Amino acid sequence: MNDAVKVALVTGSAQGVGEAIARRLHAEGLHVVMADAADERNRSTAADIDPSGSRADPVVVDLRDEHAVARVVEQTIDRLGRIDVLVNNAAVANGTSLWDVTVDEWENVLATNLRATFLLSRAVGEHMREQGGGRIVNISSLAAQAARPSGVHYAASKAGILALTRIFATELAPHGVTVNAVAPGTLETPMMQAVSAEVRDRLIASIPLGRIGSPEEVAALVVFLISEEASFTTGATYDINGGVLMR
Ligand SMILES: NC(=O)c1ccc[n+]([C@@H]2O[C@H](COP(=O)([O-])OP(=O)(O)OC[C@H]3O[C@@H](n4cnc5c(N)ncnc54)[C@H](O)[C@@H]3O)[C@@H](O)[C@H]2O)c1
Repeated sequence: MNDAVKVALVTGSAQGVGEAIARRLHAEGLHVVMADAADERNRSTAADIDPSGSRADPVVVDLRDEHAVARVVEQTIDRLGRIDVLVNNAAVANGTSLWDVTVDEWENVLATNLRATFLLSRAVGEHMREQGGGRIVNISSLAAQAARPSGVHYAASKAGILALTRIFATELAPHGVTVNAVAPGTLETPMMQAVSAEVRDRLIASIPLGRIGSPEEVAALVVFLISEEASFTTGATYDINGGVLMR
């Protein structure tokens, strides 16, 4: 990669983990293209990250729409000339019991979490292959590795992301592109603030490190994975779950 400002495309950047990742990548000097369906919130997050608007661009996109996915990649390359980093972070979580999941719910979760990751990785991977380098980081989940009776579609989509990670890593390795996955356990997000103190205490008791993780800790791991220092890792899954799953 040359000395030009590196460009990162981060999905699901309006809030939570995606916001923390976009903020860190921006702080590291990258130009961050922030893709999210929540237009207003994404704009205000981008303005907060970069009030000058020079290195953080909010882009509205519904990742379930294959044409919109193709457009965001094309427009980013047309406008900025390159994409060095792709972070597939956007997702919908759904805790419906496996007995109650409807086909519509299944399609919605799989299209958002897995199909969009596939389409974006393929479009951006092709560009990175021609460019001769790049980094792709896919945000999976502990749910892909554990067995719970709820959220079967969410878990399947996140496990599918681990398979995509290995396949894209193999295809792109000869071209200097690394592809890794990050699998967080429970994180301190607005959703967690809504749970009762009792549920929270029980959850914390099940985590060896004795606390819930933060989006910033996930962002720090992503910063390492996109760095030059992470030059000998690809196709890997990085667990970040306080020790809930050790292997
Ligand atoms: N929060 C946790 O405890 C936790 C744990 C493990 C893994 N994760 C993973 O981390 C990632 C981020 O989680 P979060 O808690 O920040 O989620 P969040 O719900 O707070 O944010 C998700 C973002 O994705 C966007 N999004 C959803 N559907 C979209 C679509 N169709 N098109 C474009 N944007 C869309 C939303 O607008 C939102 O801004 C997800 O991949 C999630 O599976 C989170």
